This record gives sequence, structure tokens and C-alpha cells, in this order.
Amino acid sequence: MTATPRRLRKAVLPVAGLGTRVLPGTKTTPKELLNVVDRPILSYIVEEAREAGIEHIVFVTGRAKQAIEDYFDHQVELEAQLQAKGKTDILDALNADLARPGEMSFTRQMQPKGLGHAVWCAKDIIGDEPFAVILPDVIVDAAPGALKQLAQVYAQVGGNVIGVEAVPEAETHKYGIVDPDARDGRRITMKGMVEKPAQGTAPSNLSISGRYILQPEIFDILETQERGAGGEIQLTDAMARLMTRQTFTAFEYEGVTHDCGDKIGLLRANVALALKRPDLGEAARAALTALL
Ligand code: UTP
Repeated sequence: MTATPRRLRKAVLPVAGLGTRVLPGTKTTPKELLNVVDRPILSYIVEEAREAGIEHIVFVTGRAKQAIEDYFDHQVELEAQLQAKGKTDILDALNADLARPGEMSFTRQMQPKGLGHAVWCAKDIIGDEPFAVILPDVIVDAAPGALKQLAQVYAQVGGNVIGVEAVPEAETHKYGIVDPDARDGRRITMKGMVEKPAQGTAPSNLSISGRYILQPEIFDILETQERGAGGEIQLTDAMARLMTRQTFTAFEYEGVTHDCGDKIGLLRANVALALKRPDLGEAARAALTALL
């Protein structure tokens, strides 16, 4: 009988990147705090983590990212003014994003050496237990949320579980790509993975899209992980090494993925999520139709 997987309680949100693809907007505002409709991207991400049962969130931050910590704290004057003006709906929205007592930790990646290095920076706060990694510039519009879908798979199969989505063959060179073995519905056992394969060499069109559940043994591997694609310490390379010792299951979650770290992706997320909003959808559609 397979042992029950250890409970998933913690998530790492790496937010130390430079956000060069959406500069100059990210010169003084962290990319992860850019608005999608009327909420920062991170608001969607924290909501997804909480829905999946995450009790502790570790932000790996960097220079010029202090605003992230402030976002999850009280802004006493603003709150008092909203209260005085009777703007309780806005206050409720602000309150929903406040950190619960002890829920959030912040640690620094002092140089953006890559996603693998950013995750490694959280190792002492995570300790010896499984954890999720959520790329905080990728919004997945899904119900239940993408991480909850992965957590449900994890509760059944344990090991490491990686969220994937199908991308056009011509774009596989931009992503971490899964080398699939057997497929059972949306669940795929993996025999390998490769970060940004050269065009025409990708083992599949399944891209690793920013949601992971990992075992803590990944930290020992990251410790010695050399730089890979783009001169960065890649999480994908470390996972490929851990795969010789542990199981990895890819899960093609249901939902629409928006890469908000990219100009068009950010625009598309704004349009798609505004169109879906009960309070804004009709007006958004009219404005877009007039433009087009
Ligand atoms: P990206 O590569 O999409 O983010 O990393 P970036 O480096 O900020 O963006 P560009 O490519 O320069 O436009 C995905 C996530 O990983 C974090 C980023 O903050 C982003 O949320 N990251 C990346 C780190 O925390 N540290 C790193 O060294 C690299």
C-alpha cells in the first residue's frame, strides 16, 4: 500500500526577477503588483494558494520589491478614509488580501540568478516538507484553481506533481518541456524534462507552466545546480536530476493560462478577466467592440 503523501502546507512565490519584458513599467513597481483589471497579479495568486489549502507563503523578493510586503499589510490612513466615506466594498477587497497572522514570510534573493536559485533561497523557511511553487506572473483562470487541481492529484499519487499545458509546436523552445511516458486522462507520468529545447527537438508540446508541488530533496540538488539555459540556475534542470530518484507526475490542468510577464499576455489577461466580470463584462465588451 502506498503511504499517504505528506500534507502540503507551504508555497514559495519567487518575486525577485527583473521583469525586463515589461519595462519600463516595472522599473519601480514590481511586475507581480501590476494590475489585472483592478487587482495586482499577486492578489489572484495568493487567492489560488489559499484555495489549495496553503497555510504559509514564502515570498522570495529582491531589491525594489518592498512594495510587495506592504501590499499585504494594513494601510491605516487609507483604510480610515475609506471607512469614513462608507466605501465598505473597497475596504472588503483590501481586507481580503491582508496577510493572516503569521501567514507570510519574506526572504531575499540578492541577485536574480534564476528560478532554481530563487526557490533554493526559501529552503530554511520550508524545511523538510513538501511545498508548492507558484510562478507569480502566471495567472491561471480556473475553477477550481490550478494549484488545487494539482493538490488533488498529489493527495492521490504523492511524489512531485507539475502543472502543464499544451502549447503550439512552434513555441516549445520558449518553455520547460515535459518528456512524457504514459498518459491517463490529464495525468502523465514523466521520463524527463528539458528547459527551452532547441527548435524541432522538443520531446512533446507540454510546457511546464508555473505550478509545481515538490519534495524537499530538491533543495540538496539545487545547492549544486550549475547554470543552464540563459545562464540561469534552472528549476527544470534540478527537477530532471531529482527524477532519477523520485516520481514526477505531470498534470494538464483545466483552465486558461495567462503569462502576465509578457506584454501581450498581460493585455490578454486584462481583457479576458474584465470580460468575465459580472460588474464590468458588458461595458468592457462595448469598449472593445468600439475599438475594433
Ligand atoms: P521570469 O523569467 O518570467 O521573470 O521568471 P523575470 O526574470 O522577472 O522576467 P523577464 O524575463 O526579465 O521579463 C518567473 C518568476 O520567477 C521570478 C520572477 O520574479 C518571476 O515571478 N524569478 C526569476 C526570481 O524570483 N528570481 C530569478 O532569478 C528569476
